[in-house]
Amino acid sequence: MKLESKVQKAMNEQINKELYSSYLYLAMSAWCESEGYPGCAKWLSMQHDEEREHAMKIYHFIHERGGRVELAGIDTPKAEFKNLTLLFTMVLEHEQKVSASITALYETAVKANDYASQIMLQWFITEQVEEEKNAHEIVDLLKKVGESPVSLMMVDRQLGARAAG
Ligand code: FEO
Repeated sequence: MKLESKVQKAMNEQINKELYSSYLYLAMSAWCESEGYPGCAKWLSMQHDEEREHAMKIYHFIHERGGRVELAGIDTPKAEFKNLTLLFTMVLEHEQKVSASITALYETAVKANDYASQIMLQWFITEQVEEEKNAHEIVDLLKKVGESPVSLMMVDRQLGARAAG
């Protein structure tokens, strides 16, 4: 079954959102690198890679279904952040927005009786639960330990230990 145009449009928009996420996390990573938080920079750089993979998952799926990929411009991400707690709060809020967007995309696939898209998108729904949980845990940790240099160094070291995958 060929992709319905509404589903294809929503999928192309989701590619843009995933690529924007990738770009945003790279900007956050660059800020962390400049501010002396190499562990957080590594964590965000890995997140940057993951978001690109998310975009490519949809990109390949559109092609597998005989659809057309249409790439749009990517917005400029913020370059300055007040502190780590606010930065990771932004990550959490951003992931919540992405979750809402995936849900809306899923609903579009449901309305189109597009079962293949629904199955593919179930992976994203599960992934968003994980992404929100991870961001939540970091925000909670930062709030718990406070803003002293020693606390921030500890959090930075912990995030730097993130393993691939
Ligand atoms: Fe691809 Fe973090 O959502």
